[in-house]
Parts: sequence; structure tokens; C-alpha cells
Amino acid sequence: MKVVFIGDIVGSIGREAVEKYLPRLKKKYQPDVVIANGENAAAGRGITYNIYQQLLQAGVDVITMGNHTWDNKDIFEFIDDADYLIRPANFSEEAPGRGMVQIEKGGVTLSVINLHGRVFLPPHDDPFAVADELVEEARKISPLVFVDFHAEVTSEKIALGWHLDGRVSALVGTHTHVQTADARIYPGGTAYITDVGMTGPYDEVLGMTKESVIYKFQTNMPSRFEVPKKGREVLSGFFVDIDNKTGKAVSCERIYINADYPFQG
Ligand SMILES: [Fe+2]
Ligand SMILES: [Fe+2]
Repeated sequence: MKVVFIGDIVGSIGREAVEKYLPRLKKKYQPDVVIANGENAAAGRGITYNIYQQLLQAGVDVITMGNHTWDNKDIFEFIDDADYLIRPANFSEEAPGRGMVQIEKGGVTLSVINLHGRVFLPPHDDPFAVADELVEEARKISPLVFVDFHAEVTSEKIALGWHLDGRVSALVGTHTHVQTADARIYPGGTAYITDVGMTGPYDEVLGMTKESVIYKFQTNMPSRFEVPKKGREVLSGFFVDIDNKTGKAVSCERIYINADYPFQG
């Protein structure tokens, strides 16, 4: 099974980048499943029902979330009925929605799990313990397991990658919006990257207008971060090819498309 993962989609520029490049990525990588992180899809803050539908129509199969899950209140209206949208599994038991979903393509089942880091982020439940539970549950169904670990610090992501090595097919980091150059397969067969990076405005600061962020750094005064509607785009992603029998990664590769690194067909 081949999987393409698209990093944090930010605002309309990010959504348009998915619509523009996903058909080309599908041609190039022939993915069976496309997963995307949608926590910033609605103008940088959360996701709406319409955007959820728009992304599914654009060819995304499963959407993962992160610390911005609840930023757009629309999600409370539809998350319990959204079959292919998951939020971090180590959120409170009070939180609506769920943190794992199974998707079947061509007779092969893949479990997708979303987890949230807790270093320099709100202190959710232990992602290592929740991962252990969910991975055990998932592997009863199929050895193909894909994890989006939404976390701030590199060490927490690398550590969970090692912790799950050999038990999941891939673990990708999201949240920092900056792609790391460390894509690899761990010895046990888990494909890994510390952060996939973002999909959205290319010429700003993590997708937010640079003027608002520069002002914040200069003055420490309140500054409303906005996502621009116009400008050049970046699409950041990750490709993994998984052995259907063992669930181990066979190959993986970073995807990084922008004005400086144009799409290579
Ligand atoms: Fe994000
Ligand atoms: Fe985030």
C-alpha cells in the first residue's frame, strides 16, 4: 500500500495548493491512501464542514488534526459524524470525535492514528501510553498503521518514532510547519520524519502574515495573526510504500514543492 501524507494545510492558499498538486502527486506516487493534516485549513484556525468536504473531494481520504482542532466551532457540529476526520487520541475522554480510523483500499486495511505531543503544548494524556493501546488494537485488524504525531519538539517525535519502531508502518511529525530533512526507515521497519512541514503561504511566517509576526516579536504587544489569501504556495508532504503482508515500510521520501523547489514529475 502506498500512502501520501500532506502536512498542515493552512488557509485558502493551502487548500488551493492541494487542489493544484494532488492530481500530479497521485500520478507520480500512485497512492492508495492520501492523508492530510487539516488543523489550520479554515483560515489557519481549525476546520469547517464545508472545508472537510472540499478536501475529501480534492482526493484526501483521511484528515488529522492537532492543537487547533477546536478553534473553529463548526467542528462540534459534525465531528461525531465525520467518518474520515480524526483528532489527537490522547485528548480528554470528554472530547468529541475519535483518534483512530481504519480505511480499506483494495482489500488492504490501514489504521490511521493521530496523537498530540505534550512538551511546550497543553498537557494532554501520555501519547506513548495511548499509542501503545491504539497500536495494539490496530494490529489486531491489520499490521498497516500510520501515525501523525502532532508535536512541537524534535526529541519527543524522534523518541515516539523509536518507541513504535516495528509496530507501526510510519510515524510522521506535524505542527512546526517546517519540514525536516531526516526522512528515514528505522531498523524495525517504521518510516519516519520529524516534521512533514506545512501546505500554504510560502512567503510568510509559518503561514501567518510576516508583518503581524514581526510586530509581535519587536513589541510583545497583542498582534492578530492572519493568514493571507494571496501569494505563492508551498506543499509539504511525505510518501511511504508499505509491505501489505508485514506492515513494514519499504521506501519513503519527502515531498516539498514551492517556487524554489518546483514539482518534479
Ligand atoms: Fe499547524
Ligand atoms: Fe499545530
